Amino acid sequence: MVVKKIRDVLAVLLAGVMTIMSVSGCGQVMPEGDVEMEKSDAIQIGFSMDSFLIERWQRDRDLFVSKAQELGAEVNVQNANGEVDKQISQIEYFIEKEMDVIVIVAIDGNVLSEVVEKAKKAGIKVIAYDRLILDADVDLYISFDNRRVGELMGEYLREALGDEGTVICINGSPTDNNVSFVFSEFKKALQGSGITIDRTGYADNWLAEIGFDFVSEYLAEGNVPDGIMCGNDDIATQVVKALSENRLAGQVYVTGQDADLVACQRIVEGTQYMTVYKPIELLAQRAAEMAVAMAKDEVPETEDTIYDGTYEVPFEKLEPVGVTKENMDEVIIGKYHQKGDVYLNVQE
Ligand code: BGC
Repeated sequence: MVVKKIRDVLAVLLAGVMTIMSVSGCGQVMPEGDVEMEKSDAIQIGFSMDSFLIERWQRDRDLFVSKAQELGAEVNVQNANGEVDKQISQIEYFIEKEMDVIVIVAIDGNVLSEVVEKAKKAGIKVIAYDRLILDADVDLYISFDNRRVGELMGEYLREALGDEGTVICINGSPTDNNVSFVFSEFKKALQGSGITIDRTGYADNWLAEIGFDFVSEYLAEGNVPDGIMCGNDDIATQVVKALSENRLAGQVYVTGQDADLVACQRIVEGTQYMTVYKPIELLAQRAAEMAVAMAKDEVPETEDTIYDGTYEVPFEKLEPVGVTKENMDEVIIGKYHQKGDVYLNVQE
């Protein structure tokens, strides 16, 4: 009897506290009824990622999530593992969950316009992260200047080769819109030089092993290129492996992008010529800030816009940087990788 009375008094007190909480808006979880908890009132962001196979994407995720959390948002990260259908159903799930913002690293930039339209109709803001989504009128595209990435590879090869020679190119996935930006600008940068592109390939789904086969076959035919343009450092890893097997590592100028640790190691060791560093911290944190602002109905202000094939969309454009042995210390060490890691195999 006494116990029941105490329980009743406590229940009344608790109900009072809960009412105050929901009226004043303090506390993230609003209790409703006896057991059911209402959805958190924090900003909800859904982050749909291609995959985590490539080193950089874990960094993208971690930096994005911690910045968004710092700004009071909650982030649900989904990994599509390189499967387009999976990515579409994950985005649909985010729509069902009534996210405030959906951020997408598109596996295939050509097939998401319908699901993006659905999200926008539901009042959800959509951000294309790193890779453009075509014909979709996203609310924001945030990335590095991917044309500049290709231009840098071209400029550095021109310099290294003294404007002469033969190169072969193994690009990334043909469904990744960045790839066409990189390659078209790379070709443009070679114009007017005596450098010719002898063969071009694509690594479907960014499968780096395709780069190994591509180069192995080329060498097996008795050719030795002066340079190899690789879509990213992961592909460069396989390309350098193929060169090594043919005792050619260090004799062919290899380019890449991402400043992966192994690529930076190869650069200081002399088996890769250059990479393009893209400060992921800037991208991920800026994207999180903009996502949170957009959730509060702020319209993103960007200096640039980009044509997605149908619409001109706001483009937050960040600058990539070319890295060779010469500026490794200045650009990378202490900022992206530690000195001991990059120079691990190099004798002082
Ligand atoms: C990114 C690269 C990355 C590649 C593979 C591209 O869209 O711009 O940084 O290496 O995807 O994940």
